[in-house]
Amino acid sequence: MIEFLLNGKKITSDAEADTPLLWVIRDEFGLKGTKFGCGIAMCGACTVHLNGSPVRSCSLPVSVVANADIRTIEGLEDQHPLQKAWIEHQVPQCGYCQSGQIMQASALLATNANPSEDEIVAYMSGNLCRCMTYSRIKAAIQDVATQSDSVVQIYNPKTEAKRTQGVS
Ligand code: FES
Ligand code: FES
Repeated sequence: MIEFLLNGKKITSDAEADTPLLWVIRDEFGLKGTKFGCGIAMCGACTVHLNGSPVRSCSLPVSVVANADIRTIEGLEDQHPLQKAWIEHQVPQCGYCQSGQIMQASALLATNANPSEDEIVAYMSGNLCRCMTYSRIKAAIQDVATQSDSVVQIYNPKTEAKRTQGVS
């Protein structure tokens, strides 16, 4: 029996210790936003946050996350700025990779509010998109990162706090 926080709620899993976290999230707790792509930690479709850092849940035994804080795409705040930007830029094509992309991007902005283009490309480079939406992903991230004329709340997975970007 393994306990951990899933999107802020304490849960108990009866899964075998070596079961990948992805299947616990999807099959035991019904959160289908996190996707299975390669299964070998190479594509990023299954990205979730572990104590605030992006991890590949397809390759992470659930035993590793005992007592940890796991957040999935369903656990992002409603109307997260990145989700709004994704819609405005019409980022998704088939959509399959996109929850992983947003989880990776939200971890980036939580630790680096205004990343350079090179920093965005480097940070996002492990998240693959077979529909080649990379330029729109980058534009959407840049859009959120440069919104300095309005208060933008970004979920900060490191601290479970909301951080204000755009004002000092
Ligand atoms: S499904 Fe996990 S990295 Fe591809
Ligand atoms: S939108 Fe289709 S794989 Fe990325």
